[in-house]
Amino acid sequence: MKKLLSASLMCADLTNLIASVKELEKAGIDYLHIDIMDGSFVPNITLGFDLVNAIKKVTDIPLDIHMMVNEPSKFIDRMNLSENDILCIHYESEIHIHRTLEMIKNKGCKTGLAINPQTPVENIKHLTDYIDMLLVMTVSPGFTGQKMFMGAEKKVKEARKLLEEWSCSDMLIEVDGNISLPNGRKLSQCGADIFVLGTSALFLKDKTIIDAAEDFKAVLE
Ligand code: DX5
Ligand code: ZN
Repeated sequence: MKKLLSASLMCADLTNLIASVKELEKAGIDYLHIDIMDGSFVPNITLGFDLVNAIKKVTDIPLDIHMMVNEPSKFIDRMNLSENDILCIHYESEIHIHRTLEMIKNKGCKTGLAINPQTPVENIKHLTDYIDMLLVMTVSPGFTGQKMFMGAEKKVKEARKLLEEWSCSDMLIEVDGNISLPNGRKLSQCGADIFVLGTSALFLKDKTIIDAAEDFKAVLE
């Protein structure tokens, strides 16, 4: 399956987001990763729904929305998404996850389910029919610039194996958090498909976005 790059907009130059988006288009980025945080599910507040709807108007790159919010079902209808966008909620963020995944499916976009480092992959076993993408968090969510947790590679490998066993091998696995060049290469070999790129590999002080994206693509080959 083709490896995909998802640029984490919270790491972009927020004082000139349009320029960053245009450069990401030139770099051939596959998704724009938009982190939405409520200050409660994670102790941080970042990008919001108005930004999602504004970004939709200025680029054709599909959105990869990462909702780190409690009770995401309350907010699903605040975003104008299309069929190629992914709306990802956290397994840990709501009691009736199945119902919320159904709401997202009915919206017509792709569904994502994220699991924090401590959440077993097995927990999603009965929900696979509702999930297009499994987001295996490689850090505890909420902040950029963290270090990948020690069991990340083993967990991605296990996730790929379980998805095969459950006959849903076409489900994409995304990884998010400290996806550096070496971590990207290792996680790709473990079976990851989509790589959320932030301060570890894409938004760097000494390299353009285009060059950084090229370098990352090279390690996936
Ligand atoms: C983590 C965020 C990501 C990512 C940022 O909650 O969802 O956007 O960590 O990239 P890094 O980890 O490379 O700074
Ligand atoms: Zn994220």
